[in-house]
Amino acid sequence: MSNPLGHEGAALNYSRIAGTGAHLPPKILTNLDLEEMVDTSDEWIRERTGIAERHIVGGETTCDLAEVAARRALDAAGIRPEELDLIVVGTTTPDQVFPSTACLLQARLGAGDCPAFDIQAVCAGFIYALGVADRFIRCGAARKALVVGAETLSRITDWTDRNTCVLFGDGAGAVVLESADAPGVFSTHMHSDGNYKSLLEVPTGIGSGFDAGRAFMTMRGNEVFKFAVTTLGRIVDETLAANGMEKSDVDWLIPHQANIRIILATARKLGLPMERVVVTVDRHGNTSAASIPLALDAAIRDGRIRRGETLLMEAFGGGFTWGSVLVKY
Ligand code: ACO
Repeated sequence: MSNPLGHEGAALNYSRIAGTGAHLPPKILTNLDLEEMVDTSDEWIRERTGIAERHIVGGETTCDLAEVAARRALDAAGIRPEELDLIVVGTTTPDQVFPSTACLLQARLGAGDCPAFDIQAVCAGFIYALGVADRFIRCGAARKALVVGAETLSRITDWTDRNTCVLFGDGAGAVVLESADAPGVFSTHMHSDGNYKSLLEVPTGIGSGFDAGRAFMTMRGNEVFKFAVTTLGRIVDETLAANGMEKSDVDWLIPHQANIRIILATARKLGLPMERVVVTVDRHGNTSAASIPLALDAAIRDGRIRRGETLLMEAFGGGFTWGSVLVKY
């Protein structure tokens, strides 16, 4: 029996993480550097956000960062690019309007002619990308999927606006999913509410005569903060209920890294001590779709996260978009 993509045999019903990879551009921008650029202070940034420094691209593009992260994830999984039958890239800072960053990445990797496309869900981009790839695998349309979160947010940052420029950084993380006969991914949850555009947006684009020199993020941070804390609390409940699990079943929280105070609120909601929460916001800032796979890879490579442990990933971002993934590593 063959399925629509021509794979032979019965589909396996779950996906599992086969390998992870990450990459940060070498250039570091510290809070002290930012003090020279805008009216801010190291103390304000650390207290309000938990951020001490972030990585910023020089000449690299999102696809450049994605390629390194993807190759590391493929190596970790022991999978060759030509074995992939799906590539999904979560990004809000694609190299070009088109082709998609996923198509550019596919060509760089030499990954054949599998479907490759981008997902634009801002900071929830990696959760959305993983959710889509998991569904491809569950329905038998793919067996090996590359899922990437990659961003060069520094290119859509107004470096004269202290409300936003202290928050963001660049980077990429990647996960290879493969089909399995047991979870792996227990469930993925994705939500959007398009009514809050004015609180967090890049208010220019193709529809208003694209001008890359004016395409900068604007945010009403305080209002976004309150919405994020409430919404992430709700999605923790939704995710555990969908799987008949208790808070105590979660071994690790791998949150989107926007603000340490949002992370602390979600950890409190879960009753998890901070030793069980992967935090990179101090070193990476908010890297949008890249933040969760960067944090996941860091904690896997330094040996904190081990096979068999249960991980809850959650994110909130522009759109608004938000979502979660519960997975046994
Ligand atoms: N340095 C010094 N002072 C500053 C800075 C700065 N960099 N930025 C703002 N301030 C000032 C403000 O002007 C304000 O001054 P005022 O009281 O005189 O008016 C004061 O600090 C307090 O400002 P708030 O916005 O109320 O500060 P808050 O404690 O809310 O922290 C922050 C701001 C860090 C942005 C926080 O609100 C936050 O993290 N919001 C959520 C961000 C988020 O999760 N976004 C979603 C993902 S991002 C994406 O999708 C692209």
